[in-house]
Amino acid sequence: MADESLAVELTGITKTFPGVIANEDVELRVGTGTIHAIVGENGAGKSTLMKILYGMQSPDSGSIRVRGKEVDFKTPKDAIDEGIGMVHQHFMLADNLTVLENIVLGSEPTKGVQLDFAAGRQKIEEIGAAYGMELDPDALVESLTVGARQRTEIMKVLFRGASILILDEPTAVLVPQEVDELFANLKGMVDEGHTIIFISHHLDEVLAIADSITVMRGGRTVATVDPEGIDAKQLAELMVGSELPTPETTESTVTDVVELSVRGVEALSPDGRTVLDDVTFDIRQGEIVGIAGVEGNGQAELIDALMGIRDVSSGSIRFKDDDIADWSTKDRREAGIGIIPADRHREGLLLQSPLWENAMLGHQTVKPFANGPWVNRKGARDRTSTVIERFDVKTPGPDVNAIALSGGNQQKLIVGKEMIAEPHVLIAAHPTRGIDVGAQAAIWDELRAARKEGLAVLLISADLEELIGLSDRLLVIYSGRIVADLDPKTVTPEELGSYMTGVGAEASA
Ligand SMILES: Nc1ncnc2c1ncn2[C@@H]1O[C@H](COP(=O)(O)OP(=O)(O)OP(=O)(O)O)[C@@H](O)[C@H]1O
Ligand SMILES: [Mg+2]
Repeated sequence: MADESLAVELTGITKTFPGVIANEDVELRVGTGTIHAIVGENGAGKSTLMKILYGMQSPDSGSIRVRGKEVDFKTPKDAIDEGIGMVHQHFMLADNLTVLENIVLGSEPTKGVQLDFAAGRQKIEEIGAAYGMELDPDALVESLTVGARQRTEIMKVLFRGASILILDEPTAVLVPQEVDELFANLKGMVDEGHTIIFISHHLDEVLAIADSITVMRGGRTVATVDPEGIDAKQLAELMVGSELPTPETTESTVTDVVELSVRGVEALSPDGRTVLDDVTFDIRQGEIVGIAGVEGNGQAELIDALMGIRDVSSGSIRFKDDDIADWSTKDRREAGIGIIPADRHREGLLLQSPLWENAMLGHQTVKPFANGPWVNRKGARDRTSTVIERFDVKTPGPDVNAIALSGGNQQKLIVGKEMIAEPHVLIAAHPTRGIDVGAQAAIWDELRAARKEGLAVLLISADLEELIGLSDRLLVIYSGRIVADLDPKTVTPEELGSYMTGVGAEASA
């Protein structure tokens, strides 16, 4: 019997890819006007299930009901026509267009053949006011903070009239303040009768906001639970199917040897604004220096300056005994500076290439990937298999294309290929973004073990728990300046938050 109080009802959904059962006999019931969370390990099948509901992928078998009515979506357009919208795990906005253009294009509120931007602008304002979502329609997407990009994606979906919203890891890229804003927006939508389905690896926030939680494991739905009756640890254990290991805590391994020394670094944006202002810090062998900050406060520029992608206008960068300011990115990498980039799709991966080619990126000139001027394919495949094994990348093997990996498994590959190269300095931007709690603990252990062997790490992260838990020292970046140098053992998330938003800086100035 069709149940019309349900917004979505998925029954017996099965979906296979070559060598992988992504969904197996999945059952999911989502009540109208509720927030329903889906959790599970990397590769458990969450995104696949949501792409099926959104008409992006067709199931091998099973049925889909929307508001009690059986549907058979061939394309996302069919799903949009039924009032379903999806914001993907990786943003899909055009950077060189404005917010307004991104939202209006592809949803065609047409007046004759011309797109009606005036009507579009008004509708964006109305939607924004209804749910308390702030957006500047004329801002270029490339200039937006991650939080604003996300609001643009959500706005795009609401603009097309969605009343059932699917959000695939909407909070993975947000700092805590932005998460609070997003959740306030979502509550506003639910109050208006919308239904939200969202995927997240942050179990605390899932417990705080969801009305109901479905757990997936190995392609199956193993339980649907009420957040009132469960805690984060129990939820994680349902995901994994066994007890979670407790991460190792290790003593400080900081030495006196400075590996990387940054002195008075200043950098300008193309339009002449100061984006890095007198940035100074050292990282020693065996030390993890954490950088906290709301995205867009100079983190990207700092990484680019350290990697030789951006020129500095003054100041010095020393690696061991060398001033590396004039070194190419290739020279820096070959000398032993590793990088886990912030945006795995733009900077970290060639999605349409096999994993073994991806594992070579940044290391293609050295063993085991190079054999003189030639590519050593066997060496590359073997190395990739080792990464897959050690970092638990869920995939049939090194010849699979990167696009076929789940988001978290793509991230594990990037972290693994950089760490296995045994750099002396590792610049790690959001190393566990999108990674499930179990795999996150494993990567933290890897970082601690490498630190013990002398690795110097610059850790940039939006995850305050990660920053506090891993760092030996914690710097806060705000408006291109280092505004605080804190002891992670004593700092509280609230204190960090106030420095990150510039409040702490004013108070102490
Ligand atoms: N297009 C594809 N081709 C081949 N395999 C795929 C494809 N899409 C997904 N898979 C596989 O299906 C499985 C489920 O992937 P899915 O992306 O649904 O996982 P997920 O639960 O969203 O994980 P994550 O938390 O890492 O995002 C994975 O093993 C993945 O490698
Ligand atoms: Mg996913």
